[in-house]
Parts: sequence; structure tokens; C-alpha cells
Amino acid sequence: MNIKNILARGVFLLSLAVVFFACTEERKPIIPMPVTDLSVENLIPKPLKIIPTNSAFALDEFTGIYTSKNATGFEAVGTFLADKLEKKTALQLPVNDTSLNKIERVIYINQSDSTELKSTEAYQLYINQDSIIINANTAEGAFRGIQTLRQLVPETSNDTLAVHKIWPVPSGKIIDNPSFAYRGSMLDVARHFFSVEDVKKYIDILSYYKINVLHLHLSDDQGWRIEIKSWPKLTEIGGSTEVGGESGGFYTQKDYTEIVTYAAERFMTVVPEIDMPGHTNSASVSYPFLNGNGKTPKLYEGTHVGFSTFDTRKDTVYSFIDDVVREISEITPGPYFHIGGDESHVTKKNDYIYFVNKVEKIVQKYNKRMIGWDEVAIADIDSTSISQWWASEENAKKAVEKGMKVIVSPAKKAYLDMQYDTLSKHGLHWAAYIPVDTAYIWTPEGYGGIPLENILGIEAPLWSETISTIEELEYLAFPRVIGYSELSWSTPENRDWEDYKVRLANQAPFLDRMNVKYYPSPLIDWKKSKFSYETIEKD
Ligand code: ACM
Repeated sequence: MNIKNILARGVFLLSLAVVFFACTEERKPIIPMPVTDLSVENLIPKPLKIIPTNSAFALDEFTGIYTSKNATGFEAVGTFLADKLEKKTALQLPVNDTSLNKIERVIYINQSDSTELKSTEAYQLYINQDSIIINANTAEGAFRGIQTLRQLVPETSNDTLAVHKIWPVPSGKIIDNPSFAYRGSMLDVARHFFSVEDVKKYIDILSYYKINVLHLHLSDDQGWRIEIKSWPKLTEIGGSTEVGGESGGFYTQKDYTEIVTYAAERFMTVVPEIDMPGHTNSASVSYPFLNGNGKTPKLYEGTHVGFSTFDTRKDTVYSFIDDVVREISEITPGPYFHIGGDESHVTKKNDYIYFVNKVEKIVQKYNKRMIGWDEVAIADIDSTSISQWWASEENAKKAVEKGMKVIVSPAKKAYLDMQYDTLSKHGLHWAAYIPVDTAYIWTPEGYGGIPLENILGIEAPLWSETISTIEELEYLAFPRVIGYSELSWSTPENRDWEDYKVRLANQAPFLDRMNVKYYPSPLIDWKKSKFSYETIEKD
């Protein structure tokens, strides 16, 4: 089947409908659809444009999914959609099976070269009575489009419309494109280690909200979390503990590749971070020649910062870093390598600048673009490198003067480890308390006077000093990270707290079904569902 057949079929079915409504005698049983309003659906992030047509597509067992032939990755997107819809509805929708006679309605994922598609992530979603068409330039755009479609499929079927089960999808047209290309979340697996399964679950939920970057903070004073084959003690010794003295852990390169692949299947880029020259105690315990603070290093299980540094004037330190960057870059398909660079309080300023300049060259040698926390802007770095603004507006402005791009992650607005309020079970509050409304009501566009063209995107970091389980991770991340997805995807005109908080309340059935233990903020009138948060908490 191709798009011409489908459109022809749509026209055919439309004429059938006209005949049906014009005549009194009974014809093919067209299912009467409820009146809907696509513009009030609970979509997050809010799409660029929504044009409702007030009818519905009847998703049911007679629906088939078709994708453009010879379009790279499109069939996989179709299969992903079928799998997710099966989990939600138990329907087993065939993908690209043209041999079936029973198919009456189609979801068509179409590669289009329309100039209206403004980026690789742009998509158009047309929902008609008998067809849903997703147009995108790339599989990435199609993938973003099917997340919107997933959100439009009701959690429960409407069993009054026909003798079989039907999930009515509100009809209309959606034109969508992200505001920012980089929409990230960071997870600190160094202070406490999180398993591959935990990280995959996090990726799954983030990708549902169109977040496209997972930044992994892979090393810190308390732990080294990624296997480096040429320096095995990093994980043998440096990976053996974590905050509070528990047993730590690390990803083998195979584990890391599994995470990267899982993320790539969801069009999410993994950004690996090796934090240096400070935050390096676990590396120096493993290989004491790295240490530059003159002390004999011991494993550290506390939460202080700023006491460790590499010896920035030793050539062997740079050979070590070259191996680490090379090995990680070889298994990282994404374009970025994050070198940390924050809170190097015991590194002299000149040494720090010397260090960042040298490490930037190593990162570039392995064809990666360097990202560093905002302090790196004080070095003589290249305009192609990126500064992640977490603390200092002055540093962010320096980055702009150097022509660099900035990732906006201000701790007082975007740190997921900040407590919601004084009653929060987990988290810290050194930057601020960040309730769900504060997390949402700010404008990253032009934040702190940074010109829009210098802003690569937004990232919400989750540091793990106070959390060690997936439930605790979810308590801090959700629901706030859902708001950051909207801040980074949707235009300022499409963002409104009063409107957002209703859409957020309606995420509860999805989050409950996914067993996400979000913080049930009292600011939100959470929609009850059969898998309610309270039920899961008690079990
Ligand atoms: C940071 O929070 N130290 C980047």
C-alpha cells in the first residue's frame, strides 16, 4: 500500500460516509465518533500548532500501521508504535502487512520532503476519521510524531461506540517543531550508581516527552562508573563504593553500549561526562600518580566538593586522559564529550586554564565537541565548545563573548535534585527550593541576557547525593522534568502554567501505568487512575 492508495481510500471512505448519512437505508457500518476537541488534549510538550476538526479516528483491531518504503528507520518507528500501543490497549496492530483484508483504517508514517518541515525533528500529524498520517523528513521526526500520537490515544477504550473495543483519537492537524535542538536531562551515576535497567526506564519516560539528550555524569570523587580497558583499576578500585559507603558499581563498556543503543532507538543522544580536573578523587585513589593536591588519596564516601584535582602539569596525566577520552568516544556515537570542569577549587587558576585548553584538544582529536560546566569559559577555548551554565552568569557571558553555545541549566531553576519544599523526602536546597510551578514558570529564551542564537538548549541535572534507588530518582525527577521538556520544546506563546498544570494532572494515568513514583505535588489536581499513585505506594 502506498500513500496514493491510502488517500484514495480516505476519499472513498469519505464518499461512503456522505452516502451513508444521505440515505436512510443501512450501509457499511461506519462507527459514529464522538465530538472531540484536539486543542484541549493533554499533550506535553505543547505542539506548535493544533487545528481541531472535531471528530475522531477509531483506533481498533481493524487498524494497520504502514510506513514509507526505503526510508531509513521508518519501519522501526512503526514497530515501536505498534509495541507501545499494544502495551496500552492490547491491540496487535500489524506493521507493513499488506496481505490483510480486515484492515479498514491506517496509520501511515510517511517520509516527506515538504519544506514546511523545518528541522529533522519536525513532523505533521493529520488525524482523519479513517487515516492518521504522520509526515516527517527523517525517522527522528517520525519518532517525535508518534509520541504525540501515543499521548492522544485514551488510556481506556470507549465500549459504547461499537460491539468491539475502540479508542477514539481526536481528529485534526498538528504541525510541530522543537524550539531547541538540545533538550536534556543529566543523571549523576557517580554519587550513587544506577543500574542499566534503571537508566533504561528513565530513558523510556524522557523520550515519551521528547527529551533527546541523556547526559551521564560518569565519574566523581565518590566513584568511577565506566570501564576503561587500558586503566582497569578505575572501576576495580574507584568504582567500589559510593556516598554512604554502599558497594558502588560501574558499567562495563558492553553495559554502556546497551544504554547508548537503547537511547538511540529512542532518538536520544548520550553525553558522557568525565569530570576533571576536580571531582577526581576516585580516579586518583585508583592511580595515585594522577593526584595533584599533595595528599594520599583514600576512597571517599562523603558529599563535600572541591578538594581533589589532577596534577595538571604532568604529561602522564594527559596520556591517561587521552586513553579515557578515546575509549569512551569509540563507543559513543553522539557528537559530544563533557569534561566537567566545575568546582576545581584546589586547582590554581593558571593550571586550570592550561588543563582545559589541553583537554579540549584531546576531545577534538577524537572528533567530539567539548562541553564543560560554565567555569570552562575562563580558558582559551574554541567557539565550537559548549558551556553549561549552572552557577555563574559571568561565565555564561564569557562563553557568549567567545562565540560559544550555552546549555541553560541554572541550579536555582533547573536542578532536579533541589527539594520541592521543606517537606521533601529527598534532595538538597543549597540553590533553592523548586516547587513544580517555579520549575515551569521561567523563560529560558534570553535567560540572563544570553542571546537566543547562543542557546543550544536546556538541561535539567539530577545529582544523586541523596538518592540511591529508582523510586527516589523518580520522586525528584517527576513531575519537574516533564515541565523542562515543555520549556525546551514549546514556544513561549504556547506555555502557560494554568493550562500546563491541567495537562500535567492528566499525565497521572500514564505515569501510574509506567510505575513511575512521581512526587504528587499538592499544586496539581492529579487525575485518579486505576493504577493510582496511592495504590502503588501501599503495595
Ligand atoms: C555542579 O553542580 N557542580 C555543576
